[in-house]
Amino acid sequence: MNVLVIGSGGREHAIVKALKKNERIRKIYAAPGNGGISMDASCVNIKADNIPGITDFAVECNINYIIVAPDNPLAIGMVDALERKGKKCFGPNKAAARIESSKVFSKNLMKKYGIPTAAYETFNNCDNALEYVKSNKVKFPLVIKADGLAFGKGVIIAQNCDEAQTAVNLIMKEKKFGESGESIVIEEFLTGPEVTVMAFTDGKTIKPMISSMDHKRALEGNKGLNTGGMGVIAPNPHYTAEIASVCEKTIFYPTVMAMQSEGCPFKGCLYFGLVLTPFGPKVIEYNSRFGDPEAQAVLPLLQTDLLDIMEAVTEGKLDSIDIKWSSSSSACVVLASAGYPESYKTGLEITPLDEKGNLKFNEALIYHAGTAYDGSKFQTSGGRVLGITATGLSLAEAIKNTYNAASQITFEGIYYRKDIGKY
Ligand code: AMP
Ligand code: GLY
Repeated sequence: MNVLVIGSGGREHAIVKALKKNERIRKIYAAPGNGGISMDASCVNIKADNIPGITDFAVECNINYIIVAPDNPLAIGMVDALERKGKKCFGPNKAAARIESSKVFSKNLMKKYGIPTAAYETFNNCDNALEYVKSNKVKFPLVIKADGLAFGKGVIIAQNCDEAQTAVNLIMKEKKFGESGESIVIEEFLTGPEVTVMAFTDGKTIKPMISSMDHKRALEGNKGLNTGGMGVIAPNPHYTAEIASVCEKTIFYPTVMAMQSEGCPFKGCLYFGLVLTPFGPKVIEYNSRFGDPEAQAVLPLLQTDLLDIMEAVTEGKLDSIDIKWSSSSSACVVLASAGYPESYKTGLEITPLDEKGNLKFNEALIYHAGTAYDGSKFQTSGGRVLGITATGLSLAEAIKNTYNAASQITFEGIYYRKDIGKY
């Protein structure tokens, strides 16, 4: 088989590395991939959201299976376009991807089907939203979210009425996130530990993966700006078997059924961002794809072949496959460029990686997120540069192994959180 992975980050590198174990695959392509991914796959220079470019390539190169990993290609209908060309894909079509690409859609879905989430109101008129945040109907902190995709930056937590008005104006009047801010969701602030659960679903059956804990803030102590994610541990120690069983009954299965009832069954990886509140687990967000960097911590624990699972999802036969997980723990730490998530330098040499982009004499997995390869050395090309994952029999051991590997790598301005797994 020829397989194509769409995307260019650490998540896509983790998917490529997992697919490499499959013996039926003849060639793995990545579009556009990155320096490190080019060591494990043939990178083709087509942007992830270039629908005609990708579909033409898939037809010309006889691609048999395509994994659409990032949010934007899913939101704009990459899967629909590929399927029209007769191609098999992993990932939801455009209608099902709305579960991530429209927060108004996902909140209304949860309300309609009784899936626990933060209480909310939606607005498509700026003046009405401003009036609401000034009214005595709201309590602070208050969470304000742009409806559409906003590079992970469309969520603002307002501590008081002034901050709430600024946020509403920023999103709806100044159009900070463009069209994504034409509608907004204003919701109750939830407190409790956050848990990520990603799940394979074929639209009927849902099989959750090992739980994980992302660390979204840039700085230690969960301070600083929100990022795409600075590190992950898996499993998440807050997510007990009892809580898992509640989530399966009240959130996971009802979501799959809700999407089916709405006429847009979800096929692919459905990501549940949960808060374990004193009143039970509630959803704060859905994603229509693997998390980044959650995939880098969770996929190394998968013992069943990834392509076999993905094909079962596509064919609607997920119930026929038994998915096995390692009982080990894992930790992933993101090595970032100074300045991330704001501006940062690129083109800085990363040492001491071997010619394949790995660390010699160390078993840690080195996932490339923002790197370029110039024929002899690896350089930084993004804010999140590498994701370092190690496993261990306990979480403590996994974290120790990860930091041991991370501390050997260097580039100018390297920054990473030293407290992954402490919260
Ligand atoms: P998102 O971009 O939707 O992943 O949200 C970013 C982060 O904002 C989440 O990981 C939470 O930490 C926080 N957040 C979002 N919604 C809420 C909420 N209703 N209550 C508390 N925190 C929230
Ligand atoms: N790490 C969070 C996300 O992928 O959205």
